[in-house]
Amino acid sequence: MGSQPKLSIFLTKDEIEAAVKRLAAEIRREYQDKYPLLICVLKGSFMFMADLIRHLDFPLEVEFIRLSSYGRGRESSGKIKAVQGLRSKVRGREVLVVEDIVDTGLTTGFLLDHLRQKKPTSLSLCALTDKPSRRQFPVTIDYLGFTVPDKFLVGYGLDWGEKFRNLPDICLLEVEE
Ligand code: IMP
Repeated sequence: MGSQPKLSIFLTKDEIEAAVKRLAAEIRREYQDKYPLLICVLKGSFMFMADLIRHLDFPLEVEFIRLSSYGRGRESSGKIKAVQGLRSKVRGREVLVVEDIVDTGLTTGFLLDHLRQKKPTSLSLCALTDKPSRRQFPVTIDYLGFTVPDKFLVGYGLDWGEKFRNLPDICLLEVEE
């Protein structure tokens, strides 16, 4: 039979909410008069994006794109596919990418390079979580929620084989073989 995943809370929904509010305050200071384009990287960032923009009380635009490097398991396939769904004009815009997690940095690095070629006025990155110990490709995170250890996390948008995105907390997932 399949292996049984074990979950334990790593970041509570209250801790996440406090971080989202802090990040929103930092982002407001920089972008309130700039009509930024916030790009949400699906699927993992949908919950973070929705909560973040609720705290941004100034004009902005949102865009949702897909760019997957992960298969259905816990390890990155390392294969980056093309950016899908980018309809907004990026040239001349103040662009802020909203990510759930930066792990090896391959996905985010690929996306930032792709966007940079479109000549935005500025390009910054907001990530809810960062696993710096796993980095293979250097990525600068301008707005960061949490630095996390090299453990597999689920919940608040993060999945394991498409499961657990709906958990309100971020949990540690361990698979007992
Ligand atoms: P990277 O290209 O290795 O930085 O991987 C980034 C993507 O991998 C994220 O956007 C997530 O979709 C996925 N990912 C990395 N670590 C985790 C994790 O701990 N839980 C769930 N997804 C993860």
